[in-house]
Amino acid sequence: MTNTYAVVLAAGQGTRMKSDLYKVLHPVCGKPMVEHVIDHIRGLGTSRIVTIVGHGAEMVEETLGEKSEYALQQEQLGTAHAVQQAQGLIGDLDGTTIVVCGDTPLIRSETMEALIAHHKATGAKATILTAYADDPTGYGRIIRGENGQVLRNVEQKDATPEEQKVMEINTGTYCFDNRTLFETLKKVKNNNSQGEYYLPDVVGILQSKNALVSAYVTEDFSETLGINDRVVLAEAERVMRGRIAEKHMRNGVTIINPENTYISAAAEIGRDAVLQPGTMIEGHTVIGNKCVIGPNSQIIDSVIGDNTTVHSSVVLSSRIGSATAIGPFAHIRPDSTLGDSVKIGNFVEVKKSTLGEGSKVSHLSYIGDAKIGSHVNIGCGTITVNYDGKNKHLTTIEDDAFIGCNSNLVAPVIVGKGAYVAAGSTITKNVPESSLAIARARQENKEGYANKLNLN
Ligand code: UD1
Ligand code: CA
Repeated sequence: MTNTYAVVLAAGQGTRMKSDLYKVLHPVCGKPMVEHVIDHIRGLGTSRIVTIVGHGAEMVEETLGEKSEYALQQEQLGTAHAVQQAQGLIGDLDGTTIVVCGDTPLIRSETMEALIAHHKATGAKATILTAYADDPTGYGRIIRGENGQVLRNVEQKDATPEEQKVMEINTGTYCFDNRTLFETLKKVKNNNSQGEYYLPDVVGILQSKNALVSAYVTEDFSETLGINDRVVLAEAERVMRGRIAEKHMRNGVTIINPENTYISAAAEIGRDAVLQPGTMIEGHTVIGNKCVIGPNSQIIDSVIGDNTTVHSSVVLSSRIGSATAIGPFAHIRPDSTLGDSVKIGNFVEVKKSTLGEGSKVSHLSYIGDAKIGSHVNIGCGTITVNYDGKNKHLTTIEDDAFIGCNSNLVAPVIVGKGAYVAAGSTITKNVPESSLAIARARQENKEGYANKLNLN
């Protein structure tokens, strides 16, 4: 959309959140709310996007990076004052400007597109996106004239009891003729209960000057939720979660119970994957086709191949191959790489380790800072002793090696290709290829000695 500009308001502190984190950075389904807004605007293909920053400006800019330009609002004097800060960047341009609040992450590109289309079709100087709310408390109310024409917006705190009964609310998204917007902003006053310069007053000012103003009513109130506190944050999370789940289900993912399955906005999931209840797919996670995840698994920032199962387990910042089985009750910690057809069984912790194709750690083991080849079998209760109290050391286990149960591999140490470590060994020296290492006290049997102990 050439000659269409977007201004996103994100300078407020968000006092009602009662948080150390700036409001617009609070995540909804794992993505900061303002980033949802920006991403949806990017879907429109506007020529410019300007984000108004103030509280937490640096963090907001860092979060959004190159996705936007920025204008600083030093003092938060209200939404009209906020938009005015974009004057230097876009104030002199011909075109249409859409203004969106950074705290309305559920607004969809389609709705903004429809708003812009309506605005252009009517030839209005300002069009306000409105919705009917079951409970309009806290929102600005749309005051219409006898013929249904939009007259102005009145904020909750300035509204008479009669005006407060109006169910049609200002969603905080607007379309303006760009030049008219910046000219009119100069006329906005702050003589209201909050002493703020209100952006929606632009609509009232234009109307009083007989300029054409319009409203576009969206059907779906939930899409316009403005997040001012944590109660609405949870509501937005619920709506967004439902949307994300629906997208994946339509793409061929089975979600047994979408109500208790959590998928981040950024996650990708392959066809015929099954998400069992209690599963959380977080961050930039990619899951292959036909995987079975859950019940009760948490996967964060990881890439998982096809046909892999992750049962009641945690996988963090790791890469997992195809046809691999993890869990139940395994913990794959960051920077681990598991190949194809690997098995990680119950009560196994893997940290910053690599396991080659077909290797197995089936029970009760700790594998940390280890480089393990393919087709290695690690017996129950094996520990890579990676930490000497000061430094971490590497354990290398080459292809086809077999580590007997209850072994300690004291790093740095190498177990060579095809070598065999006897159960119960504490390995402190390298084990050459194809050899057997036994590192435990030799068993001695004292015949008949038990009788002497008179235990019975
Ligand atoms: C605003 C609207 C209200 C509408 C509601 C929809 C005004 C005066 N009121 O109210 O009519 O129903 O949104 O959600 O506009 N911000 C700045 N600088 C400021 C003040 C605010 O950048 O000086 C930003 C905030 O960070 C926020 C957005 O503008 O992202 C909206 O501000 P907020 O204080 O949440 O306005 P509401 O009271 O919700
Ligand atoms: Ca708000």
